Amino acid sequence: MNFELTEEQQMIQQAARDFAQRELIKDVIERDTKAEYPTEHVKKLAELGFLGMLVSEDYDGGGMDTISYVLAMEEISKVDSSVSVIMSVNNSLVCYGIEAFGTEEQKEKYLKPLARGDKIGAFLLSEPEAGSDATMQRTTAEDKGDHYLLNGTKNWITNGGTGSIYLVMAQTHPEKKHKGINTFIVEKGTPGVTIGPHEDKMGMRSSDTHSIMFNDVKVPKENRIGEDGFGFKFAMKTLDGGRIGIAAQALGIASGAYERALQYSKERKAFGTEISNHQAIAFKLAEMYTNIEASRYFCLKAAWDKDNGLPYAKSSAMAKYFASETAMWVTTEAVQIHGGYGYVKEYHVERLMREAKLTQIYEGTTEVQKLVISRHILNE
Ligand code: CAA
Repeated sequence: MNFELTEEQQMIQQAARDFAQRELIKDVIERDTKAEYPTEHVKKLAELGFLGMLVSEDYDGGGMDTISYVLAMEEISKVDSSVSVIMSVNNSLVCYGIEAFGTEEQKEKYLKPLARGDKIGAFLLSEPEAGSDATMQRTTAEDKGDHYLLNGTKNWITNGGTGSIYLVMAQTHPEKKHKGINTFIVEKGTPGVTIGPHEDKMGMRSSDTHSIMFNDVKVPKENRIGEDGFGFKFAMKTLDGGRIGIAAQALGIASGAYERALQYSKERKAFGTEISNHQAIAFKLAEMYTNIEASRYFCLKAAWDKDNGLPYAKSSAMAKYFASETAMWVTTEAVQIHGGYGYVKEYHVERLMREAKLTQIYEGTTEVQKLVISRHILNE
């Protein structure tokens, strides 16, 4: 076992840290308050090569490994998870999905601009009545010979307004249940695509979340990914990697809150001394630190499994489950350590706490992760 990072991984970590600590931090509170999309910061992500960091250089990506992706996601999420979720969905759901399962033509046409960050992608699985139970797709894709006709509504779509390349899951053969689902590449400007209003979220307020409606949208046959009926497996396989990204995001949120709580506890005095000198606080910090380190090992293990061609559905679910629960708990404790200051925006920890909550919900709730883990251990 080697826990050391390579020189390249350390450089990527440092680049992400510099970007977050020098640039993202400046107006993060304002962006969150106004729910303002981080346009300039997303451009910078593209310049850094982070929007397609996992994509091979053959398709204009960064050719970086999943460990580096975890490191970069952690650093950015310490400061602003609205920015890191844009990066995560583009990389590990959309780019990965096309690179792993798309045709050469699909990669040339869609993957390359996504990897360069010229275009942003979105992953359209969730529906008003299909969240955790993703097999229950109501969106239909009728086979019309040379094209498919898409009808239905998708909900909670990250990058839904700013993204211009959608991966859409839809039911083609309802009698086959999940085996009848397909995934399609759909361009935003296609006639019949309507984007709903921006969702006014509790946290990650400046990422761009919308409903998207399809009304008789014609999709060329060549835009289907994989064999007929591959769509549900496609979604599951893609989400396995997505969950590593969200786990790393949760890790970053927890680390960001912990670092602020640690600093505050060394400055704030109560009962005649810095509050870090009270065991009530010191023990809390010890627990926070230990759980964050454990989350980090889970994230790096899942990333290592993926980089080494090993199965990673279970390790990514474990990483997401543990890191997101840790993030929720650590951020709540960080607010507690800050007392009244923790409850106001200026100290950042209340925002991190709101962001942590989302990591327990999207790309599979905590309960979904436990379902995945339990099925694996019961079948092993
Ligand atoms: N890899 C490959 N195949 C898989 C798989 C995986 N990880 N997981 C399941 N499958 C296959 C199974 O082998 C099975 O195949 P067969 O029918 O051929 O045997 C098929 O898929 C059905 O599997 P299950 O019986 O396990 O399906 P289920 O109905 O019990 O559902 C679930 C399992 C884990 C709950 C799944 O529905 C799930 O992950 N739900 C959550 C969906 C989710 O994460 N949504 C997030 C939306 S995306 C998002 O949030 C993006 C964003 O914008 C941020």
